[in-house]
Amino acid sequence: MNKPSVLVTRRWPAAVEAQLAKDYNATFNTSDVPLATLQMREAMKRYDAVLPTVTDKLDADVLEVGKPQAKIIGNYSVGYSHICESSARKSGMTVTNTPDVLSECTADIAMTLMLMVARRAGEGEREVREGRWTGWRPTHLVGTKVSGKTLGIIGYGRIGQEMAKRAHHGFGMRVVVQNRSRIAPEVLAQCSATQVDTVEDLLPRCDFVSLHCPGGAANRHLINSRRLDLMKEDAFLINTARGEVVDEWALTQALMFNTIGGAALDVFDGEPCIAPDLMQCENLVMLPHLGSATREAREAMGFRVLDNLADFFAGRDPRDQVI
Ligand code: DGY
Repeated sequence: MNKPSVLVTRRWPAAVEAQLAKDYNATFNTSDVPLATLQMREAMKRYDAVLPTVTDKLDADVLEVGKPQAKIIGNYSVGYSHICESSARKSGMTVTNTPDVLSECTADIAMTLMLMVARRAGEGEREVREGRWTGWRPTHLVGTKVSGKTLGIIGYGRIGQEMAKRAHHGFGMRVVVQNRSRIAPEVLAQCSATQVDTVEDLLPRCDFVSLHCPGGAANRHLINSRRLDLMKEDAFLINTARGEVVDEWALTQALMFNTIGGAALDVFDGEPCIAPDLMQCENLVMLPHLGSATREAREAMGFRVLDNLADFFAGRDPRDQVI
């Protein structure tokens, strides 16, 4: 029997590419340069499966190609706001994602960012590397204590819950949660967390606010100037969710006029381009979308895509079907 043809749009971990090459008639993007819209559109017409990731924008131009050959999009990321849901449905495509396997590592990066911005680690590193450090003194780069403070988590899915575990059990933080749906009392109890109804209820109570909700149109600019104004003036915002969740212009204003204590971002609207004004903010820590960037998570994400493909081509419902 002919093996299904699959296109992998970026380089994946070697072990996963090797397995894909064994199981499928696989084409790899060895240059690792993101494909243009036209190439993605052609791929939908040519391959049985297309395996994209967050850097591929799959909108109507790509997905609505009449009679696509591709019947499954085996997406390599948990977030899938880069895939237009209505176009995928219209074209009869199944879409899968890669949940669970990256939750711990993404929460680790959110913790890293929280600690970095509170303890001014980015500023300190820049100072040391640039040869500007003049030595220890009691008033040097004094930051904010994290232990025992209140953490607000917006979006209490798997990653939000991992963040809560680290903050509560590791740093003795109080956890306040806002989520679209009610969280089961036993889940909240694991971190003695309190759920509030709205983002407005959460923001004024927190010393740190960490975003773990999905991206996409529904949450675009969820954090805007009005909501930034509700934060305490020494509170910190952490975003490891999606860039579009934060209005970056409003955030720049808040950072420049010190209406909040600082922010730490792993994701950006329009990444990898960074708004020039953000670059000027000393009270901002920035990482290049590293949430899932561990060998363990990135391999597990790839094998999760393989599981989803195996189910699909065997006529079963893939476990991670989202569309
Ligand atoms: C995801 O999976 O959605 C991350 O942003 C990339 O790992």
